[in-house]
Amino acid sequence: MTTEPFDPAGKVAVVTGASSGIGRATARRLADAGMTVVAVARRGERLERLAAEHPRIEAHVADVTDMASVDQLATAVRREHGACHVLVNNAGVGGGAFEGREDLDDALRTLDVNLLGTVRCLAAFTDLLAESAPARVINVGSVAGKVGIGPAAYAASKFGTVGLSEALSLSWRRRDVTVCQLNPGYIETEGFPQTQVKRGPLRPLVGKPEDVAEAIEEAIRSGATERTVPRFYRGFVVLRHMATPAYRAIAGRMARAGGSRD
Ligand SMILES: NC(=O)c1ccc[n+]([C@@H]2O[C@H](COP(=O)([O-])OP(=O)(O)OC[C@H]3O[C@@H](n4cnc5c(N)ncnc54)[C@H](OP(=O)(O)O)[C@@H]3O)[C@@H](O)[C@H]2O)c1
Repeated sequence: MTTEPFDPAGKVAVVTGASSGIGRATARRLADAGMTVVAVARRGERLERLAAEHPRIEAHVADVTDMASVDQLATAVRREHGACHVLVNNAGVGGGAFEGREDLDDALRTLDVNLLGTVRCLAAFTDLLAESAPARVINVGSVAGKVGIGPAAYAASKFGTVGLSEALSLSWRRRDVTVCQLNPGYIETEGFPQTQVKRGPLRPLVGKPEDVAEAIEEAIRSGATERTVPRFYRGFVVLRHMATPAYRAIAGRMARAGGSRD
């Protein structure tokens, strides 16, 4: 099946994690492209401020760790708009360094928000996406979901997101719903300030939320099933699989230079 180009204008998008960082930049970008955007997060006052900026952005408070809350979101989108053409699963948290028993709660929370939150949103929106087809799902993974570097539970949550996306990109094709794993590298945001990275030699690798928003719009238009942003991180991913010893040497240096999330 070939993927037809997709014109976002006039269509409906749901963006989770829209109260800051990549999600907020994406909500703005998609609204500028002519979409009606349902901006989702827990901090309602932030969403209201965002919605006040743009007539096509509306705020909806939901917690992706709470299935009832996610079901209410899907019900509201169906009732208010009758369609969901684009679902951007972006809500996520950092953390998840897994050194021992004391880190269990943090690790489980990281998996719950980043991986299971995406699963909950996909479950709630499956029918509406299929009814709205052609439709797009963008799952915001991470380069840390392609190469095991940084906090271990965070990497696990993102490897899970990547695997989920890869399998669904094949099986949901028959519904005319494309599924993209969109994997950012280091991006400076509130939750991921990249303080340590910016102090060291990896500083030029730090990107902006708007770079990711642009890649998300491109993936929506093209129907791409995988995208790394900034693109130069892709070479690192290829190295991981094609030249493992060289990768491990570089990854070890990177982990020492910028492995911390704060
Ligand atoms: N920045 C990076 O370097 C980087 C790199 C690779 C991947 N990513 C991924 O990009 C995504 C966005 O991160 P960001 O950098 O933009 O971080 P951010 O600025 O901290 O934004 C995270 C967003 O997720 C929302 N969120 C957190 N827990 C939630 C929950 N339980 N229910 C609903 N929303 C929730 C937050 O809103 P509330 O607190 O208001 O709920 C916030 O809007 C994440 O999935 C992250 O893993 C980031």
